[in-house]
Amino acid sequence: MERNSVTDSHQEDVVAGETDENRTRKNGLYADVSSELAENMRQGWADTERRDVEPIAQAAHTARRRAALSALFPGELLVVPAGNPKVRANDTDYPFRPSSDYVYLTGDQSQDSVLVLEPGADGEHRAIAYLLPRSDRETGEFWLDYHGELWDGRRNSLTENERLLGLPCRDVRTLTERLAAATGPVRLLRNYDAGVDAALDDKVTAERDTEFRAALSEMRLRKDEFEIADLRHACQATARGFEDVVRVLGTDTPTAERVIEGTFWMRARTEGNDVGYASVCAAGPHATTLHWVRNDGETRPGELLLIDAGVESRHLYTADVTRTLPVDGRFTPVQRKVYDAVYEAQSAGIAAVRPGAKYRDFHHAAQRVLTEHLASWGLFGERSVDEAYELGLHRRWTLAGTGHMIGLDVHDCAKARTELYVDGTLEAGMVLTVEPGLYFQSDDLTVPEELRGIGVRIEDDFLVTDEGNENLSAGLPRAADEVEAWMARLRG
Ligand code: GLY
Ligand code: MN
Ligand code: MN
Repeated sequence: MERNSVTDSHQEDVVAGETDENRTRKNGLYADVSSELAENMRQGWADTERRDVEPIAQAAHTARRRAALSALFPGELLVVPAGNPKVRANDTDYPFRPSSDYVYLTGDQSQDSVLVLEPGADGEHRAIAYLLPRSDRETGEFWLDYHGELWDGRRNSLTENERLLGLPCRDVRTLTERLAAATGPVRLLRNYDAGVDAALDDKVTAERDTEFRAALSEMRLRKDEFEIADLRHACQATARGFEDVVRVLGTDTPTAERVIEGTFWMRARTEGNDVGYASVCAAGPHATTLHWVRNDGETRPGELLLIDAGVESRHLYTADVTRTLPVDGRFTPVQRKVYDAVYEAQSAGIAAVRPGAKYRDFHHAAQRVLTEHLASWGLFGERSVDEAYELGLHRRWTLAGTGHMIGLDVHDCAKARTELYVDGTLEAGMVLTVEPGLYFQSDDLTVPEELRGIGVRIEDDFLVTDEGNENLSAGLPRAADEVEAWMARLRG
């Protein structure tokens, strides 16, 4: 909101030759605007209003989601901002990515927007999207404002957006006034739009907003048909991205991790919106660093490549998939020993994903198998598997949990209450990863030398179905033999 406070009177000042920080960001272009140029720029533009727009594919779903949210908070004013662009450096912004809850409830992806659910006299809500309208030609806003349409591209008009989104739309620059007038209870999704936060500062409490955030997270635990179809697409596109990576991977020459990252990113940008999170492209011992996103190393023949990457769809749902590949196409015996242990653990985890199971079951199933293998390799000395597991000694090498929900966020539904998520029960429609791994640091003197520097994770994405589960990333092989055959096939 605060970044779009262009007013008519301000425009006159700008046209008269004054500048401000925002407007001079474009190479000082606005510093010198003659009244002739200003007049010239007002005229000669065609009416481009689109009168043929159809509702977006998920409009019926977003309406249902808003109705479900409305029912949770009768009589309260509910405010869900999309967020504002963020500065990357000096006068350049990061590509804008709206807040997931805003997308979930509207299907819209425009910056600076805010969804408001207005309570009526009967306690039921009327949803209104507050959006930036078309840039005004008359005031010169379309070219004099830093985010004017001449620079950033055409926006939908409010009328077009009403048809697209299936809800009334208003100019977001009128929102502060509306919020200032609020008298009843208000709930806000905080920390996305500083202008909205400030406007509601004296009307909200952290406790009530935390409840609101949790409710939104919990609504997203079970995916609807649209979301499932989109996640399926994200997983399929991700599989194609992994195939692209195998094709660029040199068998006897190094491949830069950056080349691997860029290759996957090309697929993400081509078939989706972006990657859903920073890709981990970890050659050799880098695989033992779980958040290896520097990606400034290179592969070496005989070593493994761990790639953890996911395509984020155009509707912003993301896959989250990991494969650990022998760079030259064949696992060495010791690599295969570790890989097979992780594969067995993942298979045990997958078998525990079904409706009615406790969420924690798949984690324990996978971790137990890993612990058994670690014990069989003598890594717990005299201690039994039960004892090591009880004491958590395996965690030196398993490091992370075994999975999480995915959806609009890679770690989806993260604000849901514990009793409904990690202490909860799996239900049909949930989508989660199963991703056990073993990571032996290069400097870990407690393991045999042959294991040092090996990191293996296998990660797939599962839809909980009425019968059990469906592997949405089944387009990629999991077992060691299948991985080798798949790589050989892709390399022709
Ligand atoms: N790529 C993030 C994760 O696996 O959780
Ligand atoms: Mn994951
Ligand atoms: Mn991952």
